Amino acid sequence: MTTFKNIRLERDQALAVVSIDRPKAMNALNYDTLQELKVCFEQISGDHTLKVILLTGSGEKAFVAGADISYMRRMNAHEATEFAHLGHSVMMMIESAPQPVIAAVNGFALGGGCELTLACDIRIASTNAKFGQPEVNLGVIPGFGGSQRLPRLVGKGVASELLYTGDIIDSTEALRIGLVNRVVPQDKLMSTCKNIAEKICSKGPRAIQICKQTINNGCQMDIARASQYEAIQFGQCFASEDQTEGMTAFLEKRPPLFTGN
Ligand code: CAA
Repeated sequence: MTTFKNIRLERDQALAVVSIDRPKAMNALNYDTLQELKVCFEQISGDHTLKVILLTGSGEKAFVAGADISYMRRMNAHEATEFAHLGHSVMMMIESAPQPVIAAVNGFALGGGCELTLACDIRIASTNAKFGQPEVNLGVIPGFGGSQRLPRLVGKGVASELLYTGDIIDSTEALRIGLVNRVVPQDKLMSTCKNIAEKICSKGPRAIQICKQTINNGCQMDIARASQYEAIQFGQCFASEDQTEGMTAFLEKRPPLFTGN
């Protein structure tokens, strides 16, 4: 298994826990950290024994405080575009990973950190978490998907306000605008995320994979095409052993034994 310098990868049966681990820089994303995340997600995505991924930040203060400002300061336009492409490739890997990814947001999720949570399927925040896209304070715009995924998640008006003002919001406000699914005390954050993960792990893995694909791809389509697409994806489930097992188990009044086939 690859050893990383700026992130940690732990496995707990079918769960992978990825922690961004640069406490001195509030877990900010520099080039090396993004590269490590890319390698890490390449490995996890191909591991069929892993059913859910949990993404968090080390320590109790920050999830990720953004892209690394000291790294970005001297970049020219070309280098900045390349850096944004790298960031986007990481976000796309997370979004297209076959397993659901849960962001356990344990503190500041600003700029690239907020964007990282947006690429995840589910966001659970601790009460001390703070969110924002403060790029305009630095004279730039989001570069890892914030101007695209935030409006899609919370709506254009609310997203525009956050993106134009650079305001940092607390977890209560994040919950109110639908940016996070739940807010829990910090000492309950990991257990809450693990409970959700365990529940997902107990379902048919093939169905979960197809469901993630269907949500993410369908959201980019108009409703007519998306409905056609869902029908095809629904049909795909019927080519799986899990479908036969799930429906047979229901009729035989016993818990299903899913294999992911
Ligand atoms: N990049 C690099 N270093 C960062 C950082 C970042 N995004 N955020 C924090 N740090 C560093 C600080 O420079 C500081 O380092 P030193 O101890 O060496 O001085 C250390 O982390 C601790 O930070 P603070 O002393 O500022 O801690 P605080 O508790 O007073 O404030 C904070 C915390 C509100 C998160 C504040 O650090 C902050 O505002 N950080 C920047 C947030 C930001 O602007 N993020 C967006 C970046 S741009 C981006 O992400 C573009 C994109 O979309 C791709």
